[in-house]
Amino acid sequence: MTLAEAEDAIRAGRVKVSGRLVRQPFAVVQPGEDLRVDGHKVLLRRETRVLAFHKPAGVVTAPEDGHGKGDTAFTLLSAQLPPELSGFGWHAVGRLDRNTTGLLLFTNDERFVAHATSPSTHLPRRYVAQVQGGATEEKLQPLREGMQLDDGPARPAKAELLDGTHVSVTLTEGRFHQVKRMLGAVGLPVRRLHRASVGGLELDVPEGAFRELGRDELRTLLGFPPA
Ligand code: URA
Repeated sequence: MTLAEAEDAIRAGRVKVSGRLVRQPFAVVQPGEDLRVDGHKVLLRRETRVLAFHKPAGVVTAPEDGHGKGDTAFTLLSAQLPPELSGFGWHAVGRLDRNTTGLLLFTNDERFVAHATSPSTHLPRRYVAQVQGGATEEKLQPLREGMQLDDGPARPAKAELLDGTHVSVTLTEGRFHQVKRMLGAVGLPVRRLHRASVGGLELDVPEGAFRELGRDELRTLLGFPPA
């Protein structure tokens, strides 16, 4: 059945979800619900949906801002979702600090969260940091060799000097404040932090905006589903 045929069937009152007549084309059907068209049971395939969101500075990666009624990455995203995406329960894939900008993924599928955030997936995440104090190749060397952090050893990172105040750091794990802690430990406190890419996916939407990723992108750029 095509999408247009499905919409026609819904509008014609031929579709029931767990015994309820459904009239909204984008009504969300939860896993385990009984879906019938003309009384015939339909088996649903669960589709993994992933959104690439460009997080602005000043909002937390949580459904609610602990300080009150302020916006969060979730509220900014939800406010612009079209009807066909608004009924899902969205999960952030990892976290960015309040003042970190850049690529933040959201998904409806907890398996994708587990895949993308597991250190065993080795999915690279590239950050660009503006640092205080002169950045030099020598100062970055400990990051490349794998440094000791207070919660255990960090994996060797890719660290590139962009200029005296900007460095690019690529990690394959995501621990609390990891980039800030690693750069802080070599005398380069971070003033601004931006996530430019996750896996092979480069951030390509304007600040505050999002786009949905295609199935091919999930496979080739983010390795999902895992082989
Ligand atoms: N590392 C940090 O220090 N902060 C972030 O937001 C992400 C990675």
